Amino acid sequence: MNIRVIRHLREMMDFSDAVRARGERIGFVPTMGYLHEGHLSLMREARRRASTVVASIFVNPTQFGPNEDLSRYPRDFARDCAMMETVPVDVVFAPEGSDMYPPRAQTWVEVTEITRGLCGKGRPGHFRGVTTVVAKLFNIVKPHLAFFGEKDFQQLRAIQQMVADLNFDIEIVPMPIVREPDNLAMSSRNAYLTPEQHSDALALSCAIGAARKNFACARTANELVDTAAKILNRAGIAVEYVEVVDAETLAPTTSLEAPVLLAIAARVGKTRLIDNIVLSRAS
Ligand code: PAJ
Repeated sequence: MNIRVIRHLREMMDFSDAVRARGERIGFVPTMGYLHEGHLSLMREARRRASTVVASIFVNPTQFGPNEDLSRYPRDFARDCAMMETVPVDVVFAPEGSDMYPPRAQTWVEVTEITRGLCGKGRPGHFRGVTTVVAKLFNIVKPHLAFFGEKDFQQLRAIQQMVADLNFDIEIVPMPIVREPDNLAMSSRNAYLTPEQHSDALALSCAIGAARKNFACARTANELVDTAAKILNRAGIAVEYVEVVDAETLAPTTSLEAPVLLAIAARVGKTRLIDNIVLSRAS
C-alpha cells in the first residue's frame, strides 16, 4: 500500500511543516469516510491543484445529536484506503477520538447566522461540531487549499464564514454535487437505503429538477417551494424542510432576483437525506 496513514496529531503537524518548508502546496479533503465518487471528485481536484494531497477520515462525534446515527455510521477503512490510492491521495489522517477531544477540552467554534436555519433548526449543535472539528483539522493539517462539496451547502457556507471571520489563510474550494446515474445525490448514508427506499429517495432530485425547470417562469420563491413540495408529498416521504433562501446569507427570501438556494431535507425510513440547487437569473 502506497498511501501513508497518520494517526497521531504531532506526526501530522510535523509532516505538514516539512511539506511547507519545501515550498509545496497542501490540498486537504476532510471526510467521515465510507467514501464514494463525491468524495473522490474532491480528492481528484486536490490532486490537480496541490502537490501534496491529504484526506482525513474521522467520524466526528461532536456533530451528531444524541438520537443520531454516530454508532452505526458506516465505516470501512481498508476500502476507503484502496479508493484513495486510485486518486492517488498521499496521506490519510485518521486520528483517534480521544486525541481530537481530550476530556479537558472546552473550546467551541460557532458560526451564528448562517447556521440558524435549514439543517440548523432540526440538528441543534450540529454545525458547531462541524466548524470546531474543521478548525482543529485546519490547524493540524495546515493546508493551503481545502475542498468541500456543495451537497452540504450550509456546511460549505459556514466554513467559508469561519475562514473569513477567523483569518484562516486557506482557500476554500467549493465542488459540485456528484450524483448516481439515477440522479440521487451521492451520500455515505445512501448505504442505509433498501432498494425500495432508494427509489422513494429519487423524489428529492426529482423535486430539485422540477423546480429548476420552473425557475425561468417563476415569479416568487413560493412557487418554487410549491413545485418541489408537490413532488415530495406525492412520494410519501417525511419532509423536514423545503425552502428557498438567499444563496449568500441563507436567510429566507421571497424574491428571485438575487441567486437563491432551494434546499430539501427529508427522511426516507430512518435515513435523513439532503439535496439542493443554486438558481440564479444571471446564469
Ligand atoms: P462527509 O459527509 O464524509 O463529506 C465529506 C466531504 O464530501 C464534504 O465536503 C461533503 O460536502 C462532500 N460530499 C459528500 N457527498 C458529496 C457529493 N455527492 N458530491 C460532492 N461532494 C460531496 O461533510 C462531512 O463529511 C463532515 O461534516 C466533515 C466536513 C468531514 C466534518 O466532520
